[in-house]
This record gives sequence, C-alpha cells and structure tokens, in this order.
Amino acid sequence: MHDRNMAVIKSLGEREELQMLREAIDAIDNVIVVTDPALPDNPIIFINRGFEFLTGYTREETLGRNCRFLQGDDREQPGVERLREAISQGEAVCVELRNYRKDGTMFWNELYLSPVYRGSQLRYFFGVQNDVTHRKKSESENQRLTETSEQFKRAIEAVMRDTSWFSHRVLEQLATIRSGETGDSELLELSPRERQVLEQLATGANNRVIAEELGLAVQTVRNYISNIYDKLGVHSRAEAVVWASITAAVSRSKLSYDFLQR
Ligand SMILES: Cc1cc2nc3c(=O)[nH]c(=O)nc-3n(C[C@H](O)[C@H](O)[C@H](O)COP(=O)(O)O)c2cc1C
Repeated sequence: MHDRNMAVIKSLGEREELQMLREAIDAIDNVIVVTDPALPDNPIIFINRGFEFLTGYTREETLGRNCRFLQGDDREQPGVERLREAISQGEAVCVELRNYRKDGTMFWNELYLSPVYRGSQLRYFFGVQNDVTHRKKSESENQRLTETSEQFKRAIEAVMRDTSWFSHRVLEQLATIRSGETGDSELLELSPRERQVLEQLATGANNRVIAEELGLAVQTVRNYISNIYDKLGVHSRAEAVVWASITAAVSRSKLSYDFLQR
C-alpha cells in the first residue's frame, strides 16, 4: 500500500505538483506575497487569493508592481523605514503598516517579511500579511482608557490637596471656636449683598442669573465675587462655595458647642 502510494506520488509531474501547491496556498486564509529582488524595484511575482480578498486588487493589477502601492500617499511611517532597512540588509522583519484597499479603506497590515536564500544568494522575499485592524483599535481604546484614568487620578489628587487645605482651615476654625472667638469671622466680614451673591453662587447660578435674581448689573456681580474671593482667601467659585458651607457647618457646630458648655 505504502509502496503503491509512493509510486503515484513520484509519478506526479512538476506541473501537477506546482498546481497542487498553488491550490493549497490559495485555500489558506493567510495572505502571501513573493517578490523578486533581482528585478528592477523588487516587484511582486506571486500573490495568493488571500491577497486579492484582503486588498481588493486582482492578480493582474498586482503582479509586476512594488508592494508600496498599498501605502497610497501615507508614506511617512516608522514601519516603512524599518522595512527599507531590512530589505537592503537582506534580513527578516515584522512591522505594522497603514495600508489601503482598492476601495480606499485603511487597514492595519502586520507584515512578516523573510528573505529566501539559495546557498548564499538572495533569491526572493516572502511576505505574510495579517489584517490586525481590530487589535490596533482595541489597543488605542486601551490607551485612551489609560489616559482617562491618569487624568482621573490627577483630578483626585488635586481634590485631595484641596481637601487637605480645607480640612486645615476647618481645624483652624474649630480651634478658634474653642478659644472662644467667633468661628465664622471671615463670613462675617461679607456685606449683606456679598452674602446674597455667595448664596446664589452656591446654587450654581452663573453671573447673568445672579444679576437678574438680585437686580444688579453683571459687572457689579463680578465685583462682588472678586471681593468675596479676597475676603475668604479663595481663588475659584468652587472654593468659595465649599468654604462658605464649611464655615456655615462650623458655625452651626459652634452653636451646639456653646449650648453644651452652658
Ligand atoms: C515580500 C514583500 C512584501 C511587502 N509587503 C508590503 C505590504 O503588504 N504593504 C506595504 O506597505 N509594503 C510592503 N512591502 C514593502 C514595500 O515593497 C517597500 O519595500 C517599502 O515601502 C520600503 O521601500 P520604499 O521606501 O522604496 O517604498 C513589502 C516588501 C516585500 C519585499
């Protein structure tokens, strides 16, 4: 049986063997390209069906051209540099390239390139291409998530810094209350109008709304707000509002503290 099979295999002519190899290479999902560096501009001398499926270009449109046509005008790519270098040295390389199908859509092409030597002579370059667009998309999504969480971390750190500043001020206030002085001295320095503006600020109203509510010009509201910042020693709306509510809470606790002292 084995001998009979071997006899049939040996009787396969070279043409038939080539035909069989061609069919096998066309049947696989991978994309295969062979170029001939002995011809001018290292043109493509073979592609499989996978190449036609991936790029949308037929065999007739592809053979005889250099593979760079897949880059379109998008030529400034680090991968292209590395390819050029590896090809000139006759070395293997793996790169990721932005390539374009016949219909103009971009795909990420992961290209494995190997030189094929016969003895010491470089005969062909053999390329296997993979469409890794999905992987690249999820990589850039991960990158975006990492950046967002970095921003979030920085925001939290900023809040923590502010919080420690505020808790420091609260402790100061408590110490003042304990020593019998007024705890909300800074708020007491605000004029009745400034207090009204601060209350409005605490509702989240913008300058125009505050102006309408209190029957003031927008510029006057701005002046009040800047006075409030100066008197409370704060630099933003958020700080002013938080500081006002802390002071209010402290002054409420002062009332109960005084009550308990009686
Ligand atoms: C076997 C082989 C396959 C290649 N496949 C691709 C490919 O799929 N896409 C691509 O953009 N470049 C491919 N290249 C690279 C280009 O042909 C070219 O070498 C590259 O753009 C750098 O040279 P250049 O600066 O002369 O364009 C391949 C090269 C070889 C030798």
